[in-house]
Amino acid sequence: MSEIRTPRSPRQFQRFTRLERLLHILMIVSFISLALTGMTLKFSYTGWAVILSHIFGGFEFAGYIHRAAASIMFGIFVAHIYDLSITKRREYGSWKALLFGEYSMIPNGKDWQDLKGSLKWFLGKGPRPQYGRWTYWEKFDYFAVFWGIFVIGSTGLTLWFPEFFTNFMPGWMLNVATIIHSDEALLATGFIFTVHFFNTHLRPEKFPMDLVVFTGRMPLHELKMDKPEEYDKLKKAGQLEEFMVEAYPPVVERAIRIFGWTALVTGFSMVIWIVYAMIFTYR
Ligand code: HEM
Repeated sequence: MSEIRTPRSPRQFQRFTRLERLLHILMIVSFISLALTGMTLKFSYTGWAVILSHIFGGFEFAGYIHRAAASIMFGIFVAHIYDLSITKRREYGSWKALLFGEYSMIPNGKDWQDLKGSLKWFLGKGPRPQYGRWTYWEKFDYFAVFWGIFVIGSTGLTLWFPEFFTNFMPGWMLNVATIIHSDEALLATGFIFTVHFFNTHLRPEKFPMDLVVFTGRMPLHELKMDKPEEYDKLKKAGQLEEFMVEAYPPVVERAIRIFGWTALVTGFSMVIWIVYAMIFTYR
């Protein structure tokens, strides 16, 4: 049987575990909820924010939804760290092996080479780099979430529990926290709904949408084209077959596509709203 399968192939390469997919779906739901309710509060003087606030049950209720979504996001973060500790125990033995092993998310020399190679490739001065399991932009996106949780999450907690935090912080720090929270949130929203969306869904190889994070699986020919280094390694080690699983039936794929399109359209609309608010109505 040929190794190169068509997208309709009943068997596909498994890239993500069930828990990773679940956490990413919850992350999408919580992030979009946080961004929608947060921007409704930030741009409360604009017409679209007033319309959204009605949908959320008023500005005060938008704040409650914001806090509920934040709790989900903290839960996702804890679940991911717990999952990492299980993976470490089961597959790596030590944190050093997990953090600096073959499939580490920590950027290394190859990522630097791939970044330079990509710039050359964009200019037509070299071949497409032999990307491995995690590309440099995927690693960047991964750590951006850690940074975001640290900066947006910690400042958000001070806004949520001001009485508690002002027991040991001067009151003016809450004003600073609001500015940091609000501006970093704007940056995160702008980045996710443009750069992240482009890198994952809109680049020519994936356009208009990459379903892999929802289905957890991709056609083998896509792995070979997109992550040639990983494909070659697994093939040489004779391990490819271990990762081959059944593809989802078309009806499941269709449901996933509806969810994906809803997220994409919401994200793009938010970018348009934010740009409009910043240019024409900013206060
Ligand atoms: C993950 C932890 C987070 C926590 C604990 C948190 C908490 C809060 C709280 C308590 C407020 C004040 C709400 C009110 O006045 O009723 C707030 C405001 C806000 N949040 Fe968050 N938030 C978090 C994440 C996010 C994220 C991910 C975004 C957007 C991507 C975001 C965007 C905003 C914005 C834009 C405001 C309005 C700030 C302003 O008035 O200028 N937040 N947040």
